[in-house]
Amino acid sequence: MSYLSIRDLDLKGKRVFIRVDFNVPLQKNDQGVMEITSDKRIKASLPTIQYALEQGAAVILASHLGRPKGKPNAEMSLKPVAARLEQLLKRPVKMAPDCVGPEVEAMLPAPGEVLLLENLRFHAEEEKNDPEFSKKLAALCDIYINDAFGSAHRAHASTEGMVKFVKQAAAGLLMDKELKYLGMATTNPPRPCVAILGGAKVSDKIEVIRNLGKVVDRIMIGGAMAYTFLKSQGLPTGKSLVEDDKVELAKNLLAELGDKLLLPVDHVVVSEIAAGAPYEVVETIPEGKIAVDIGPKTVEAFSKVIAGAKTVIWNGPMGIFEKPPFDQGTVAVAKAVAESGATSVVGGGDSEKAIKAAGVTDKISHVSTGGGASLEFLAGDALPGVVALNR
Ligand code: 3PG
Repeated sequence: MSYLSIRDLDLKGKRVFIRVDFNVPLQKNDQGVMEITSDKRIKASLPTIQYALEQGAAVILASHLGRPKGKPNAEMSLKPVAARLEQLLKRPVKMAPDCVGPEVEAMLPAPGEVLLLENLRFHAEEEKNDPEFSKKLAALCDIYINDAFGSAHRAHASTEGMVKFVKQAAAGLLMDKELKYLGMATTNPPRPCVAILGGAKVSDKIEVIRNLGKVVDRIMIGGAMAYTFLKSQGLPTGKSLVEDDKVELAKNLLAELGDKLLLPVDHVVVSEIAAGAPYEVVETIPEGKIAVDIGPKTVEAFSKVIAGAKTVIWNGPMGIFEKPPFDQGTVAVAKAVAESGATSVVGGGDSEKAIKAAGVTDKISHVSTGGGASLEFLAGDALPGVVALNR
């Protein structure tokens, strides 16, 4: 795949449309005002926005937020994002009342100015990838930049459709960084390259396990999905979460991947799932018990493999880490990844929370801003937003 970077284009005096992923979590405060609970995705696109401004561009920013189902919805307005962005950029950010139409056209920015369009998904045409809507978006700008890695798995008007109607298109700095790290880890990684996969369901990760199985040297499986694998080996799983309809599939994956796949050898088990519930560590899950985390022997075995790695890919927690003390296995793995000195690529969501909880975020080479997008990338799928940039 070959694409241009924002650095390859002359932005001076041009109107640059930057598709960002400002799909940030919001929460209503006591006064009923929507507040941003994590500005990570806004911060992640700052280098691209700042670069465009430094180059003398007029910047138009566009994003979706939530799933408003094609209609305006005040609770999913990007207004709180404009306010936060102003603080971060230390310059005014104009907020448009819509993303297309005469009012927006009348507000188009001059060089050095920033205009944030209102939620793209207030128009059903965005998700339908409607060509007329794509043309309207494209008509706003001279240059299109896609910095929204988190939305690159969506073939929508702003991520895919409008690219064919713009004169020049390129990847933003965040998009480029994501593709470089994830691409390196899944195609030509320094070896040994190991993957740690967790989470509740095998069904969510089948393609990731298959695809990574072709590239990496070891795959460590934790989280509830490990119990479906254990059951496929005829081992007892008590009342642990098992996908019975995926047991056969787990058996096939074990046969395909053989020694490459490492499963937990001990488990933290409880009688009921609750934070602080009494627990014991066992090698065989007793009848009636629920496994909620990997045990210390598994932590030791996984940590040893991680310590010898040159590249680590991690996606998904090792247990019910949101209910301490069943976060211990996940936090220990986070520490092992940080201490390994390997190039480490961590998928968004829960594994990101775990590295934060372990206080090791700054020791991780790359934490992806994409949840669904990074999973699809790791599964080897072509991402429509990236394919559109191909030249
Ligand atoms: C995400 O949060 O994963 C992206 O912003 C995509 O959002 P979506 O799943 O609503 O398309």
